[in-house]
Amino acid sequence: MTSASKPTPATAHVDPDPSKGWFRRLLPVIRARRATFIMVLVTGLSGLALQVSVPMVLRQAVDLAVDQRAGGLEGHVLLLVVMATASFGLRFAYRYLLFGTACRIETDLRSQIYDHLTRLSFSFYDRIAGGEVVSRANSDIRSIQLLLAFGPLAGLSAISFLMAFGFMLSIHVPLALVTVSTMPLVYVLGQRLRDQVFPLSWVTQGRMAEVAMVVDENINGTRVVKSFAAESDQIALLSMVADRLRWSATALIEARARFNPLIEALPRLGMALVLLYGGHLVIEGEIGVGSLLAFSAYVTMISVPFRMFGFVLLQAQRAAASALRIYEILDEKPAIVDRPGARPLSAPRGRVEFRNVTFRYPGVDNSESPAVLDGFDLVVEPGETVAIVGRTGCGKSTVARLLPRFYDVDSGAVLIDGTDVRDLALASLRSHVSQVPDEAFLFSDTLHDNIAFGRPEAPRHEVVAAARVARADGFIGNLEHGFDEVVGERGYTLSGGQRQRISIARTVLANPAILILDDATSAVDVRTEEGIHHGLEDLLTGRTTIVIAHRLSTISLADRVVLMEDGRIVADGTHAHLLATEPRYRAIVAQVEDREVGA
Ligand SMILES: Nc1ncnc2c1ncn2[C@@H]1O[C@H](COP(=O)(O)OP(=O)(O)OP(=O)(O)O)[C@@H](O)[C@H]1O
Ligand SMILES: [Mg+2]
Repeated sequence: MTSASKPTPATAHVDPDPSKGWFRRLLPVIRARRATFIMVLVTGLSGLALQVSVPMVLRQAVDLAVDQRAGGLEGHVLLLVVMATASFGLRFAYRYLLFGTACRIETDLRSQIYDHLTRLSFSFYDRIAGGEVVSRANSDIRSIQLLLAFGPLAGLSAISFLMAFGFMLSIHVPLALVTVSTMPLVYVLGQRLRDQVFPLSWVTQGRMAEVAMVVDENINGTRVVKSFAAESDQIALLSMVADRLRWSATALIEARARFNPLIEALPRLGMALVLLYGGHLVIEGEIGVGSLLAFSAYVTMISVPFRMFGFVLLQAQRAAASALRIYEILDEKPAIVDRPGARPLSAPRGRVEFRNVTFRYPGVDNSESPAVLDGFDLVVEPGETVAIVGRTGCGKSTVARLLPRFYDVDSGAVLIDGTDVRDLALASLRSHVSQVPDEAFLFSDTLHDNIAFGRPEAPRHEVVAAARVARADGFIGNLEHGFDEVVGERGYTLSGGQRQRISIARTVLANPAILILDDATSAVDVRTEEGIHHGLEDLLTGRTTIVIAHRLSTISLADRVVLMEDGRIVADGTHAHLLATEPRYRAIVAQVEDREVGA
C-alpha cells in the first residue's frame, strides 16, 4: 500500500534445487552477506584473542611486579586497561555486525517468501489458511536467524576455549585438567535442561498460538459473538485456554529454575577446585600467585562455550525443521503463470467466449463428483451485458473466476477476441478484465487510496469522478475527512451498500474493457440498491459485461439472460422470453421475488 517503505533490493535467493540439503540451499543467501561475515570473523577472533590474553597479562603482572618485585606495576595496569578497552570495542563490533547480518538475512528470506506468496495462485490459498502461512513463515525465519547469529558465536567461543586451554596447559598441565574438569558436567546438565525445556517450550508455544487464535477470532468475529450474546461462552473459552497456557509456562519456569542455578554453580565449584589444588601448588612453590589468578579467571571464562554448544546443536535441529517448512512454501510452483511467448492484450474489443469448458477445483480430486462446469458454452459480444442466473452453488462465480485466469480450465477454452486467455500475458489480461466481487474488500486505508487501488497514480479529480459514477460521492461528502477518511479494518465502518459502492468506484477508475459483476446475495435496502444501480448503468455502457444476478433489478440491467444448471447453460434469451418459455427460469425468478418481498 502507499504507506509501504521502500522495498528491499532483490538479493540472492534460496537455491531452488530441492535435492540439496537445507543448509546448502540456504548458502546463496548467506554468501550474499559474505563481506560482513568475514568482518565478524576478524573482529570476533581478535576480540577473543585479547580477552583470553588478559589473564596471562594479569599473571605476569602479579608474578613479576608483586611477587618478585622485579618490575613496574604501572606498565601492566596500563596494558590491561588498553586491552580491556580494545576487547570491549571489538566485541561490541562483532556482536553488532553478527546480529545485524543475521537480521538482514532474516529480512532477505522474509521478502523472498512474501514475494513468492504474492505470486502463488488461488488454488494454493484454497488449500491453506493464509494466516497460518504468514505466522509460520515468521517463526520459522526467526529460528534460522537465531542459528545464524548463535552458530558463529558458539564457534568463536569454542576457539576461545581452545586458546585458553592452550595457555593453561603452557602454565601447568595437571592444574589445567583440574580447571576444565567440571565442564563436561556443565554440558551434560545443559543437555538435561534442554531435554526438559524443549518439549515444554513447544507446548507453551502451541498454547500461546491457541490463545492468540481465540482472541483473534473474538476480535474479528466480534459482530457474530455479540449478536448471539455468546460473550460469556467466549470468555469461558478464553480463560480455559489461558489457564492451559499458564500451566505449561509455569512448568517451563520450574524446569529452568531447577537447572539453571546448578549450571551457574558449577564454575564456582571449579573455582574451589582450582583454589584447593592451585593454592597447594603455590604453597609448594610450583607456580606463582599470578598463575593461580590466571586460572581462576579462566575457569569462569571457559564455561560459556560449554553452555552454548548444546544450545546451538538444538537450534540447528530447529532451524533445519524450519528451513524445510519454508522450502515447502518456496517450492510451491505458481499454478498460473505466463506461457512462453504470451502476448499482451492491448485495446481489446471485448468479445468473450467460453468454448465447451470443463472445470473442477484443483485439490478436489473426487473425480466421482460432477465437474463444476461441464460443457459450458457462452458468447458475449463486445459491449453486450449478459446476466447469468442459476441456483446457489451452480457455478456462476466460478465462471467469473475463469475469465481473469484465477484458475485454468481443465478442457475447452476461454477466449477474448478469439485468443485463448492462456496465450495472453497475465498482467495485461487482468488489467482489462475487472471484477466487482460479491463481497467488497476494503483495505484499512483512506477512501481515496481504496478507490485508486488499481491505479495509485490516478489524479484526485478522476478518483472523485469515479466515486460520482458509483454514487459514492454523496456519503463520502458527509464524512468528516471526506476522501481522506480512513476506513476501519476491511471497511467495517461502512455499510454493506457503501462498501459495494467504493468497490464499484474502484472498478470505474480501472476502466476495464470487460467487466464482471458478482451481485451481492445479501439484501441491501431498496434505496441503496437503486443508487447502486444508477451507478452500475453508467459503468456498464460501452463495456462487455457479465453480471451474476441474484436480484431482479440486476437482471434488468442485462440485454440477455442465460440460465445455468448442472454446469452448463440450459436456456438463453431476454428476461421476458425466458419467463414466457422456460419453467425452470420461472421457478428461480419466483424464488427471487419471494426473497425480495420477504427482505
Ligand atoms: N475455491 C473452491 N474450492 C473448491 N470448491 C469450490 C471453490 N469455490 C467454489 N467451490 C464449489 O464449486 C461450486 C460452485 O461454486 P460457485 O461459487 O461458482 O457457485 P455460485 O453459483 O456462485 O453460488 P452463489 O449463487 O451462492 O454465489 C460449489 O459447489 C462450491 O462448493
Ligand atoms: Mg457466487
